Amino acid sequence: MHTIIEPFKIKSVEPLYFNTKKERKTILEKACYNPFRIHADDVLIDLLTDSGTSAMSSNQWAGIMQGDESYAGSPSFFHFEKSVKDVTGMPIVIPTHQGRAAEKILFSILGGKGKYFISNTLFDTTRANIEFSGAEGIDCLCEEGKHPTIPAPFKGNMDIDMLKKIIKKIGAENIPMVIMTVTNNSGGGQPVSMQNIKTVSAICKENNIPFFIDACRFAENSYFIKLREEGYENKSIPEIAAEMFSYADGCTMSAKKDAFANIGGFLAMRDLDLAIHCRNLLIITEGFTTYGGLAGRDLEAIAIGLKEVMDEHYLQYRIRSIEYLTNKLIEAGVPVMQPAGGHAVYIDAKEFLSHIPVEQYPGQALVCALYAEGGIRSVEIGSLMFGKYDISGKLVPAQMELVRLAIPRRVYTQSHIDYVAEVIIQVFKIRNMIKGLEVIEETPLLRHFTAKLKPIN
Ligand code: F0G
Repeated sequence: MHTIIEPFKIKSVEPLYFNTKKERKTILEKACYNPFRIHADDVLIDLLTDSGTSAMSSNQWAGIMQGDESYAGSPSFFHFEKSVKDVTGMPIVIPTHQGRAAEKILFSILGGKGKYFISNTLFDTTRANIEFSGAEGIDCLCEEGKHPTIPAPFKGNMDIDMLKKIIKKIGAENIPMVIMTVTNNSGGGQPVSMQNIKTVSAICKENNIPFFIDACRFAENSYFIKLREEGYENKSIPEIAAEMFSYADGCTMSAKKDAFANIGGFLAMRDLDLAIHCRNLLIITEGFTTYGGLAGRDLEAIAIGLKEVMDEHYLQYRIRSIEYLTNKLIEAGVPVMQPAGGHAVYIDAKEFLSHIPVEQYPGQALVCALYAEGGIRSVEIGSLMFGKYDISGKLVPAQMELVRLAIPRRVYTQSHIDYVAEVIIQVFKIRNMIKGLEVIEETPLLRHFTAKLKPIN
């Protein structure tokens, strides 16, 4: 078989910014060892996120010019609404300015003290919005998903037995919703099988609990189902996506991922009563129901991107490029999440930096080392992001200490990725010289965005 190539030509380019290792060390120190605090033009290869960082297509840019900016009833809204309905089959579509705005609306209505939301793994903003409402989030990930370096086809699946036990223990009346994140971002970008979605949906129906999908990466998940699940090899991606959504009562979506948009999101659902509450809150917080915090041009870009992402040549290239980097790292002995996920490569920092205890944030230490060595920006998904303190102030660490290298869609070429692999392998060789970190300033919620740290000598 021939090399799987980027299925696009490049019409417009942006410069990369080069600096020296010495300069980067100073930048890191000034940023208090938190790459969220670094200016993007001090970054060479930015793998902080795949969110809002996609290269849009010439068709999307054409859509931007055609966007209609009417306050109410814009044709761009109807184009957007049709596109979301075509993909999800959901009859009610509510635009929001990004995914977390959809979450904020949903959990403000359904959350509150004494309520529990169950998920395979809640993404950080999803969990934060649940907790902000006074409710609690419970992750119910399958056992395979908890072991980064042991391969399995659907490591994003929910643990069905645990789900049943939790529902029995807490009581269905205290569970306003079960949320399946596809692919499972915080658990390594790992897919969820159709069988698992179907079973969870059936359990929710039996217990009268609404079942929603966090659909940020629905197309990548659909492609994994096509590749790995029996009976789906000859189905098209739109067919697989439609079946996934058919089991759900609704979904939240950040269009900044699998819709190739730089901003945007939506809520889609079947229940008109819930939609009325959501739309009321939307008008107060986001905007009128036909634009929800977005410009008409954004709605056009999303409408077009949602369709483009289901192209199989694109998805083959997308999944292959993540696997390509993963395999290079495996060959060099670097401990990475296996198999490769859909949008990112996840390094197991606990193993990579086994001399740094979790209380000294090995993930964040590795993130800093990758920046210093090669100007690569990545993100910690470990105890800085998800750690809590117990009543005595002792860190309760996260389940895993991962470093995520999220690959923006259609942005970097194979030689950029080769460079990334070289830098990681170089850092792996000098890993024993890397020091742990301590937090010197932080906020109570989502502290990883703004926390200040310093190296421990
Ligand atoms: N759900 C998942 C699974 C996500 O990955 C994200 C965002 C959101 C919800 C929130 O969407 O950013 O549009 O408000 N993830 C980004 C990331 C930020 O880097 O993984 P948003």
